[in-house]
Amino acid sequence: MRLTRQGGALLLLLPALASAGCPFGFDGADSAQNLLAEPVARRAALDVEAVRSLDIDAVKDDLKKLFRNSQDFWPADFGHYGPLMVRLAWHCTGSYRLSDGRGGCDGARQRFDPERSWDDNTNLDKARSLLWPIKAKYGKALTWGDLIVLAGTTAIEDMGGPVLGVCLGRIDDADGTDSLPLGPSKEQEAVAPCETQGSCQSPLGSTTIGLIYVNPEGPHGEPDPVRSAPQVRDSFARMGMNDAETVALVGGGHAFGKAHGACPTGPGPAPKDQPLDPWPGTCGAGPMKGKGDNTFTSGFEGPWTTNPTQWDNEYFKLLVDHEWESYISPGGHNQWRPVRKANGEELDAASNPSVMMLTTDVSLTKDPGFLKWVKIYAENQTALDEAFSHAWYKLMTRDVGPHSRCLGSQVPPPQPFQAPLPPPLKPLPDYKKVARDIARALNAPSKALPADTVGGKPYYGALFVHLAFQCAANYRQTDYSGGCNGARIRLAPQKDWPLNRGADSILKVLTPVRAAYPTLSYADLIVLAGGVALEEAGADHIAFVGGRSDAPSDEAPLPFQPPREFDDKILEARDNMQVMGLTAREWVALAGRPRSPSQQKRLGYSGSWTADPSVLDNSYFKVLLGHQWEAASSDAGQDEFRAAGADGVWMTPRDLAIRSDPEMMAIAQEFAADAKAFHASFVAAWSRLMAADRFDLDLPAVKG
Ligand code: HEM
Repeated sequence: MRLTRQGGALLLLLPALASAGCPFGFDGADSAQNLLAEPVARRAALDVEAVRSLDIDAVKDDLKKLFRNSQDFWPADFGHYGPLMVRLAWHCTGSYRLSDGRGGCDGARQRFDPERSWDDNTNLDKARSLLWPIKAKYGKALTWGDLIVLAGTTAIEDMGGPVLGVCLGRIDDADGTDSLPLGPSKEQEAVAPCETQGSCQSPLGSTTIGLIYVNPEGPHGEPDPVRSAPQVRDSFARMGMNDAETVALVGGGHAFGKAHGACPTGPGPAPKDQPLDPWPGTCGAGPMKGKGDNTFTSGFEGPWTTNPTQWDNEYFKLLVDHEWESYISPGGHNQWRPVRKANGEELDAASNPSVMMLTTDVSLTKDPGFLKWVKIYAENQTALDEAFSHAWYKLMTRDVGPHSRCLGSQVPPPQPFQAPLPPPLKPLPDYKKVARDIARALNAPSKALPADTVGGKPYYGALFVHLAFQCAANYRQTDYSGGCNGARIRLAPQKDWPLNRGADSILKVLTPVRAAYPTLSYADLIVLAGGVALEEAGADHIAFVGGRSDAPSDEAPLPFQPPREFDDKILEARDNMQVMGLTAREWVALAGRPRSPSQQKRLGYSGSWTADPSVLDNSYFKVLLGHQWEAASSDAGQDEFRAAGADGVWMTPRDLAIRSDPEMMAIAQEFAADAKAFHASFVAAWSRLMAADRFDLDLPAVKG
């Protein structure tokens, strides 16, 4: 075992979920094959040093000048591009969803289809064009993702709003592949179908594909604010926002700017249909056709407040101080205007604020949970400042991962949504000694859990491998969350995931080892135990980087969800791979890890593919490819496969998916024929998986 505290380890992983009992169908193999692309080669490495040395204040100064420099090709409303930039940043980040960590502004895929052509992103191509000179000026020190977030945040600041700071470090993608599951696309239909457009459910982030969250006009275009409120709550919750945050964001955002719907003829074709001149605008005539006062973006028309380039809580005051009625906008959509004061006073020309609201805005007054916050923010500007600045930072930063991934000189302290971990206890233990103790525990009988039996002796190695794998395998490359650091496999909700059944008992087998080292974290113990077991089983040089810490047991449960399961196991493998950032080669290599027969039974299967899990070699692939497999159901009701003509040899549907997907099968064949290739790929994939979440180490391979 090579032990090192610095460097050495690298990036990602795979999951070994228990397959749900389900009528899976390999019939879908053809359609699923390659449907979801591997997460490789579409992102240039981030130049971390360049980002660190960026003069953020200089960029902000340039942005502030740009905001006030109205251009003829897209004149600034009220002489200030700030509101447009706030909308740009919100629509870039607002595609994020908790369900699988997809979406968000990391990658800046709003520049590509499908996102760039979403109805909700109409005319945001103009905002990006305005920003291009700044992107060109700062080059690789300022990625598109960071620039968009910085533009929105600086705009708020420039219009008098409160900001916490800015976290840089987003990595630009080279295309929109990773947004295909957001839709509309055949990938999205496969992994996240929406039965009724307008009522789409999680894992999709919005109720309507092509919108950021929810239909502004009301459910299915009905101006019904009562029914709109639950949709607003549901769609913001899918991004991890509570009522206080949702109300602060909607009303804080709409303190700025206006909606655009000058006439009923629409914005014209989207970029996917007319790339050279997208959304040319169809209202008006002459040189100002389609822009300025003739702009059509959403089809709603008008500002929310009387001073739309100035931060304040007027939005909330207007909402509570007036009664509102719906009417049809010049763009042909239902929207709302004040009809009289809430106290019954009629409005005249002087007292009518000449503002509008969307059905979703009015919905905030029709739901007691929302109305409470509307009233608080209407009465208390400071409360709004506090809530909005935190919620905006969370909105902008939610998909960037832990605080340690944030770069730049204006990063605020760790926030709760970043799930900060305590620092590791010091001094770090002598990991060589810990490794020796773990090696002794491999064959020592434990009352905590019956061991596998190898050569008549107890053997815990495959169980330790299983524990380490499960602990690390919830890592999501999509939002850099999860992983074994924190050892949250001990805590709810992860300890209760079916695929983690029995993990707590395996940990108990290791507890006596931990007791001897007061500063040894569970997270380090789990990862080191997996590595020791693998080296004892024959793996070379499993790199270990100590210094993980444990999340406190009273930590508020994180809203992470287990990797998704599908009836079609090939689709499941490809979806999980993409979320975790694994290549097919890594996925297949990791499937060849020793698997404990007793643990397989604990997970509900009849057994494992091997009776001897003490050896790491390419046997798994020989067994997988060397038998005919018969579908069966275990006594516990798990779908599984039994080797025809061989007793006690079992594979899971996820194993058989490797044999049924031509690309994964080709890799399995290579490993079956070449033990060295398997070894090398396995060790690399395992090391990468175990270090995937070690952003605290500042390894370029991890950061980038
Ligand atoms: C504009 C809907 C939440 C910031 C708009 C427009 C619509 C809309 C329809 C008009 C676009 C146009 O025609 O130009 C919604 C809905 C929301 C929501 C349905 C959620 C229920 C937010 C949030 C923010 C925000 C959370 C930021 C924190 C803005 C800004 C504008 C805008 C600044 C004005 C853009 C400009 O003046 O060009 N929104 N929005 N919105 N929204 Fe929202």
